[in-house]
Amino acid sequence: MRLEKYLVQCGTGSRREIKEYVLSGRVKINGVCAFDEGINIDETDDIITIDDKKTKKKILKYYILYKKSGYVTSAKDEDNPVVNDLLPEWVDKKALFPVGRLDKDTEGLLLFTNDGELNYKMTHPDKKFSKKYYAELRKEISDEDIKKIEEGIDIGSHKCLPSHIEKVGERSVYITIFEGKYHQVKRMFKAVNNKVIYLKRTEFGNLSLKGMNPGEVKEIKREDIFID
Ligand code: URA
Repeated sequence: MRLEKYLVQCGTGSRREIKEYVLSGRVKINGVCAFDEGINIDETDDIITIDDKKTKKKILKYYILYKKSGYVTSAKDEDNPVVNDLLPEWVDKKALFPVGRLDKDTEGLLLFTNDGELNYKMTHPDKKFSKKYYAELRKEISDEDIKKIEEGIDIGSHKCLPSHIEKVGERSVYITIFEGKYHQVKRMFKAVNNKVIYLKRTEFGNLSLKGMNPGEVKEIKREDIFID
């Protein structure tokens, strides 16, 4: 097996990160630095180390959580419960992390995994992975403001990529975005002098919350996530 493929299966990181580890001499095969991530290794007999620590193939896991409001997307927080607290006993939490973040008051779909490569692919700006949110707004939004947001609105430090809005009520919309800046959806509506008063992520790529209740966790397979 190629060294790169083996290290991906160990959950070490993305292919780009692995290449960097190899190029900087941090990866050794039987004690000898490997300078080519394409080299073939024998995964049963060869000893592969990163920074002199032995690597081991991991069983990669994927879970969808329907996040409830009030939980912080962080490993630890002094003052608030964290999203990991929502994972039940039957989930082996070791080494799991959320792919991207949701604000404390945002509800909805949060994917957990121990697969570093998938995390990279789903969060890297170049990949333009879609995220769909249901938002309730303080006041009615005009067609003109929808157009401004859809065309790519400036939220201060960043000009957003084009997005898609579907108006479902006087003050409620679905919005699909293809990037993930800090407080992005709230800032997009703030930029047209409106305010998000409720936010829920309903889809992440092809994954959806359909059939799930707040606080529920569902294990899925890698093949359920449509990304190569
Ligand atoms: N955009 C926001 O403003 N908040 C979230 O939690 C997610 C997207």
